[in-house]
Amino acid sequence: MWHQGPAAAGAESRRDAAAAAHRQSGDSADDDIARAAAAFVDDRSNAVSGFDYVGGELFAEGVPLASIADSFGTPCYVYSRALLTAAYRSYQDAFDGVPHLVCYAMKANPTLAILDLFAQLGSGFDIVSGGELARVLAAGGDPAKVVFSGVGKSDAEMEAALAARILCFNVESASELDHLAAVATRMGLRAPISFRVNPDVDPLTHPYIATGLKDSKFGVALADAHALYQRAAKMPSIAIRGIDMHIGSQITDLAPYREAASRMLALVDALVADGIALDHVDLGGGLGIRYRDEAPVTLSDYAMMVRALFAGRRERLLFEPGRRLVGDAGVLLTRVRVVKPGASRSFAVVDAAMNDLLRPSLYDAWHAVDPVRPRRSDAARHFDIVGPICESGDFLALDRELAIAEGDLLAIRTAGAYAMAMSSNYNARPRACEVLVDGSSTHLIRRRETVDELHAHETRLPS
Ligand code: LLP
Repeated sequence: MWHQGPAAAGAESRRDAAAAAHRQSGDSADDDIARAAAAFVDDRSNAVSGFDYVGGELFAEGVPLASIADSFGTPCYVYSRALLTAAYRSYQDAFDGVPHLVCYAMKANPTLAILDLFAQLGSGFDIVSGGELARVLAAGGDPAKVVFSGVGKSDAEMEAALAARILCFNVESASELDHLAAVATRMGLRAPISFRVNPDVDPLTHPYIATGLKDSKFGVALADAHALYQRAAKMPSIAIRGIDMHIGSQITDLAPYREAASRMLALVDALVADGIALDHVDLGGGLGIRYRDEAPVTLSDYAMMVRALFAGRRERLLFEPGRRLVGDAGVLLTRVRVVKPGASRSFAVVDAAMNDLLRPSLYDAWHAVDPVRPRRSDAARHFDIVGPICESGDFLALDRELAIAEGDLLAIRTAGAYAMAMSSNYNARPRACEVLVDGSSTHLIRRRETVDELHAHETRLPS
């Protein structure tokens, strides 16, 4: 059985009806696609459905995934513009009437077209390197809406961000404050800053992506922050703008946020009493999504909590969501190369691998796997979906009951965040292409790498 979200059910029946009517009328495949796209547009008024079955095959908005595989090959990341847009808008809706800025944590998916889309929607960006700053600027992002996080910014990165006039540096140590002050003095500028405080709250998530515990490398201890603000307030090349936290990722509980934000606000009040007023409070990112059976916090519950905590306050709110804006909006499309029956379970060797999607190998992450054209489910067997890379850790999904044969296409779901972004060239594998679907149109937003490009930056030994 393949996964289908509740919002998709109505959409599918309407599109199924459209597809069935069309099959009877004997229209061409192009008409079928156009009709599915039209049905998709109608659906938008109700619920946004990006990846649904229509007439027994999986579509991205109005385009069959099989036709994307035919046109662009596999492995291929496919994104839904409607889902990306809806995810951004849901923040705007939830915080309607509250002065706020969403700064998309672009590390989740830094492809230019994705940044371009969010920039057009009015988003700011949370960056963590000079490379990410350059990407934001190349994509048309507004530097005045950029915050710069990260524990090890180089002088050159600070210079570039100061020259671009970003909104704020999220300073993560006393040493960074001194470096930044020196760089700003050299440039004759004032550096806008927040301190990223570490509220020492357990976000109840995977240890690799928990960032707000007191033993974490991130941020400054809450107990040290007041003295740091006092020091910064005396530095002529530093302008205090705000305060920041980010406690972890894939968080599915509101309590850690409430606790961490309350601790941070107690500090803000102490600072105000000391004559240090802040323009903004940055609550970081970290809201989780559903990969399997998690119950993510709804944005309306999150907004209700935040609104209650900030009632009567003057500071503007900043958010740094990454996964929540892009995670649901992408799938990794891959083709089965080899079916290898085994004693207890079988292997389906596909053309995507851990170099394309590292999360299962690195975090034991679970991603749903759906056949693009499902076969009769009574032929289902237990499969490990693995890649061609020479490591036993190269798997994309373990022990899934599926009916699949060589040549079949599979969609690995919820692959919009930390997926292409964490891909590599391990085993000299060119990185996948990326396609953005918009209704019935497809845009190749990153072409597949070529093998020659993989060694283009290298030289052989001198003879
Ligand atoms: N702000 C800061 C300072 C961050 O370090 C991060 C993520 C975010 C915002 C966005 O967090 P989000 O809303 O996406 O949870 N590769 C891992 C996730 C690493 C998250 C790193 N920091 C994964 O695949 O689950």
